[in-house]
Amino acid sequence: MSKLPSASIQNIRGLDIYPPKHPRIQKMLAKAGAPEIHGDKVWFSSYFIMDYLDANPPAPKTRIMEIGCGWGLLSMYCTKNFHARTLGVDADKNVFPLLELHAERNKVKVKTKASRFENLKPALLAKQDMIVGGDICFWDELVEPLHTLIANALDAGVKRIIIADPGRPPFLKLARRCRRLYKGKLKSVRITKPRKHEGYLLIIDNPALVLTADGPT
Ligand SMILES: C[S@@+](CC[C@H](N)C(=O)[O-])C[C@H]1O[C@@H](n2cnc3c(N)ncnc32)[C@H](O)[C@@H]1O
Repeated sequence: MSKLPSASIQNIRGLDIYPPKHPRIQKMLAKAGAPEIHGDKVWFSSYFIMDYLDANPPAPKTRIMEIGCGWGLLSMYCTKNFHARTLGVDADKNVFPLLELHAERNKVKVKTKASRFENLKPALLAKQDMIVGGDICFWDELVEPLHTLIANALDAGVKRIIIADPGRPPFLKLARRCRRLYKGKLKSVRITKPRKHEGYLLIIDNPALVLTADGPT
């Protein structure tokens, strides 16, 4: 079978994805400006979360916030497959035209908001059931802002937070802290499509909402 040229649209887990070299992406970058904090392609940790959600599907209309959403494919997957209400958040406004391009192509709606992790207000966090994010803890400086967001989200009543990563040291530092403080779970995962990759999911179920024999703790 002949190999697809690198600029062909690929269908991965039911979603059409433009490769970074596609002429429409290149045209958009020239017009709107290139993403500046690595939101320049779809990173593979999002696929770890998609597979986890397939096995543990959220109920219809679950309100899901994707943090560091980049092109927002994880949000689109949740909207399309689980009828979730999704909000993509990113510090870099230059990712949003790329998200919109994919949303239009895949015929799904994802709301967007430009914000840094640490600036997300408790009132907005309180409107979410779940927070997800792939490949978002890649610098040491991101550990504190993400921990602030996680603490605020749990206080605001978010039920579940899922962060995926190949296993970079800042992510593992955040994961160790969340295991200690919130009984977060670190799970090894792997995918074979679109390519072979191994990594981790950090899953935090809100300790205040975990059911005991006497009701929520
Ligand atoms: C490596 S990309 C991953 C993008 C997307 N999650 C994916 O899997 O394709 C990291 C994303 O996090 C965003 N980001 C980085 N620092 C951030 C911060 N402090 N607050 C919010 N978003 C941030 C970047 O703009 C970028 O879109």
